[in-house]
Amino acid sequence: MTGALAVALLLLYSSATVAVSGDGSPDTALTAAPGDVALLPCYSVGNVTPTVTTWVKNGRGLISGGASVDIPTGPTPAGQRLTVLHDGSLNIREVRRGDEGTYLCASTLPGNNTFHARVQLQVASGPENLSISIRPTSALPNETLFTTRGSSVSFNCSASSYPSQLLSWAFSGRFYSNTSLAANNGSWLDMKIKDIQPSAQGVYTCRAHNNISHQAVNKSTQLLVYYVPDRHPECMWTPAADESSVQFTCTWFGTYPLPTLSWEEDGAENTGAQSKSRVYASEVTNSLSLVLNRTLLSDGQTLTCRAHHPALAAGKEASCSFTLKPPYPEGDPLATALEDSSKTLTCSESTSKPPASTTWRKGLQQDAIVYGSKYLLSEDGPTLRLTIVNVSKDDEGVYFCRSENPLGVRELEVYLTVKTSSAYTGAFIGVFIAVLIVGSAVIIAKTVYSSRHKICLGGGFGQMDEDRGDVLSLVDSDDEQIFQDSVPRLPPVTTTTNGRHTTLVQIHRIPSSDHEDADPTDASPQQQDDTELTEEPEDLVTF
Ligand SMILES: *[C@@H]1O[C@H](CO)[C@@H](O)[C@H](O)[C@H]1NC(C)=O
Ligand SMILES: *[C@@H]1O[C@H](CO)[C@@H](O)[C@H](O)[C@H]1NC(C)=O
Ligand SMILES: *[C@@H]1O[C@H](CO)[C@@H](O)[C@H](O)[C@H]1NC(C)=O
Ligand SMILES: *[C@@H]1O[C@H](CO)[C@@H](O)[C@H](O)[C@H]1NC(C)=O
Ligand SMILES: *[C@@H]1O[C@H](CO)[C@@H](O)[C@H](O)[C@H]1NC(C)=O
Ligand SMILES: *[C@@H]1O[C@H](CO)[C@@H](O)[C@H](O)[C@H]1NC(C)=O
Ligand SMILES: *[C@@H]1O[C@H](CO)[C@@H](O)[C@H](O)[C@H]1NC(C)=O
Ligand SMILES: *[C@@H]1O[C@H](CO)[C@@H](O)[C@H](O)[C@H]1NC(C)=O
Ligand SMILES: *[C@@H]1O[C@H](CO)[C@@H](O)[C@H](O)[C@H]1NC(C)=O
Ligand SMILES: *[C@@H]1O[C@H](CO)[C@@H](O)[C@H](O)[C@H]1NC(C)=O
Repeated sequence: MTGALAVALLLLYSSATVAVSGDGSPDTALTAAPGDVALLPCYSVGNVTPTVTTWVKNGRGLISGGASVDIPTGPTPAGQRLTVLHDGSLNIREVRRGDEGTYLCASTLPGNNTFHARVQLQVASGPENLSISIRPTSALPNETLFTTRGSSVSFNCSASSYPSQLLSWAFSGRFYSNTSLAANNGSWLDMKIKDIQPSAQGVYTCRAHNNISHQAVNKSTQLLVYYVPDRHPECMWTPAADESSVQFTCTWFGTYPLPTLSWEEDGAENTGAQSKSRVYASEVTNSLSLVLNRTLLSDGQTLTCRAHHPALAAGKEASCSFTLKPPYPEGDPLATALEDSSKTLTCSESTSKPPASTTWRKGLQQDAIVYGSKYLLSEDGPTLRLTIVNVSKDDEGVYFCRSENPLGVRELEVYLTVKTSSAYTGAFIGVFIAVLIVGSAVIIAKTVYSSRHKICLGGGFGQMDEDRGDVLSLVDSDDEQIFQDSVPRLPPVTTTTNGRHTTLVQIHRIPSSDHEDADPTDASPQQQDDTELTEEPEDLVTF
């Protein structure tokens, strides 16, 4: 029974190539797996039964037997594992590793003929227990593996084969099909992909081939390469079609697979001591919109878009957020323009979150200003400019830079004063008069100084004009230098002698001498006045 099975098995393995050897005997090649029963035929070409058959392996005698010999001729290392069957075939009950080799048999046939045959036995097993491991990876529920872009991934494949095997890694991806990556004849095959990229995503197959038994096994696994971009998600705001609500949009493109985005408000829900963030929306998408009613928005509120993705390193968060702020337009509240010229009013709105809609308005009715030949409107980042062309008196008045966002409205009020060209001329005249007054003041000061003794006695400026002689005498005095210097630019006084610096302090007082405190004692040289000269240009200019 077993013998018949074994023969059937052997015939399967056997390539049964019968060649004619030099002396006319057939050559047979057999392959058996460990544990198999192997039957090595000797005389198989005729019908007669050999009387005795002797088997020799690798040149060393093994066993003899046959129809006329029932007991093996002496002990052999194989013991009872080997038997010569009635027809002279060699039966190996349980093939082991090491049984491979070249077997020669000699059968004595009736009629004093000897038959020789040669059998090539090969022992082969496997491949079996093929296993693959790819690290570092994580497994999805469907057993597909995924790793992260940039990782250094090791692929190890192992299998058992006797006497040898050929292991190989092959890859099939989007751009390649069945590309051989590595191969060797060892018991395991290891390869590494450094800095793995999405192009390396695909199916990896390890194949083990035993070229003795011609058996092959393989195992495949799908490997996905996940990635996220370096940049963070982007939070945007768009006015909703409906005035009463705002649409917040969060986008995060360039990820694989799609991320999970959620709009949250941190600390929105107070549950006792713990404050938890409130989740408004959460979805597997690369663009998530949230429409909120304005009544739900408040100053300082923070809306955060958080992204979750398996390719994000542990502890790393990808998010963007908005901290809502009401608008706050800023600028100069007062502006002056000359008639017939152009005037530009400037307003800057950089506080508002979400960005405000900022417009220029005119008058207390806040009429919208429309771009045209009269009004030029321009925007430069947060700065808005309104240019009023050919300013006329009618343009004088209040302007508003009105800024509105979903949290509210705030205005910057700018008052424009329009000066006529005649007022401009008047200003020149004013300056001219001022210079004149300064000039005369200096002269008066000089007069006062030169006639200080008289002032002390007489007590009044009224006397100065009468003392022209003194003015002339002053020119000849030692103080001439000081006097001349002081006329055009009112320099600091050199306090060389007995409190002369008060001379110029008097100049300061002369323009305002039309009021009561023009006390003659003030003008006296004895006054050690600490008033500093630097104050004087201010007084003169504002005059
Ligand atoms: C068989 O042949 C051998 C030599 O080849 C010889 O010695 C022997 O006597 C022969 N036997 C018979 C029975 O013819
Ligand atoms: C293959 O694996 C099985 C079970 O894990 C084990 O019993 C057997 O010895 C292994 N075969 C080889 C050749 O390692
Ligand atoms: C396993 O699941 C992932 C994602 O769900 C999918 O991309 C992949 O094609 C699946 N693999 C197989 C072999 O079904
Ligand atoms: C590959 O796997 C085999 C069997 O599990 C193991 O003996 C071998 O050390 C591994 N090689 C590497 C480089 O990890
Ligand atoms: C892949 O290629 C190898 C040799 O390069 C071949 O033996 C094998 O059959 C191929 N597999 C497929 C699925 O094409
Ligand atoms: C693998 O092949 C090399 C030569 O190609 C050989 O030296 C080595 O012995 C082989 N190893 C096995 C286990 O067959
Ligand atoms: C089996 O593979 C080895 C290398 O691994 C090679 O030397 C040998 O010739 C191959 N045998 C056959 C029968 O292909
Ligand atoms: C893997 O084995 C299957 C049969 O089990 C075969 O169809 C396939 O071509 C083999 N793939 C490779 C790459 O050898
Ligand atoms: C926004 O809220 C107000 C007050 O709760 C309500 O009257 C209004 O209809 C809401 N608007 C929308 C678009 O839901
Ligand atoms: C400026 O406006 C006045 C009327 O306000 C008009 O007469 C004059 O032609 C305008 N000049 C220009 C250059 O537009």
